[in-house]
Amino acid sequence: MGVTKPPILVCRAIAQETIERLEQHFDVRSNQGDEPWSREQFIAALQGREGLFATGGERIDAQLLQACPQLRIVANMSVGFNNFDIPAMNAHRVLGTNAPGVLTETTADFGFALLLAAARRVTEGERYLREGHWTRWEYGMLQGADVHGTTLGILGMGRIGQAIARRGRLGFGMNVIYHNRSRLAADVELETGATYVGKDELLKQADHLVLVLPYSASSHHAIGAAELALMKPSAVLVNIARGGIVDDAALAAALRNKRIAAAGLDVYEGEPAVHPGLLAVSNIVLAPHIGSATASTRIAMANLAADNLVGFFHGAGPKTPVNPEVLNAVAA
Ligand code: DGY
Repeated sequence: MGVTKPPILVCRAIAQETIERLEQHFDVRSNQGDEPWSREQFIAALQGREGLFATGGERIDAQLLQACPQLRIVANMSVGFNNFDIPAMNAHRVLGTNAPGVLTETTADFGFALLLAAARRVTEGERYLREGHWTRWEYGMLQGADVHGTTLGILGMGRIGQAIARRGRLGFGMNVIYHNRSRLAADVELETGATYVGKDELLKQADHLVLVLPYSASSHHAIGAAELALMKPSAVLVNIARGGIVDDAALAAALRNKRIAAAGLDVYEGEPAVHPGLLAVSNIVLAPHIGSATASTRIAMANLAADNLVGFFHGAGPKTPVNPEVLNAVAA
């Protein structure tokens, strides 16, 4: 008699090679057609499944956990895990895992892409050209802000924040300052060339501010009207972290009133919906949450989520649990 494979659900379309890998270890139900499931359809598809391969956008809360009592692990293929209600998962003894590390450099590249595009008005320039306005040279045409040699502020100094700091210092000769819940060890500060400052100092001194902090109740609207009011009128704000960290209505007003010069956003409150005030201003670069979207990084993210599922069910243990206390509770 063959060994029964644990049943799992892959709730969105992913690379076929990852599905094939998962099928070696699991009884896989997948949504390779990428059908847009309602919450009810998602919960129905999860029935009887012990593992979930998630993208990071699926809310895992008490209601879902109650409706899916067989579920034991949710493996996000994202570093962010603000879709997890950790207390509810702990109460139901469901493990969550994320995918840190593998997307650090790719996401840091994208942070710089947004910073450069917003500061140098790249997408505004493209629209200007495509709309046929470029008929002659003009001295003041689309003048932007320098990035090299300026002060780069980073709010949130985890792996991605540090990768941005290195790019700023080594690639663009920037003076790098940061603020974080806790100050980095001296050797990391030395290696990244970043100087710790208080949050208000960061807002006041930065020529360009990149947000890379995780979303939580305490980081909700970490940048709102009061914080934007502290920033330089020439400043550029970049958010590659999570929607909800910035008060999008306040940002739209600040851009409209030229309280700050420009913004580059990859994430939004309530995405994929975008605040109409952000769509209405031209001094912004808008991307549809693609910070980690390169072919090789997507595969690495999916492989890490798969490793976590395989490790959980087949002995070696998950590589990157976010609530490891569940493992101890299960073992006890
Ligand atoms: C992450 O991994 O959290 C990125 O935002 C991609 O979803």
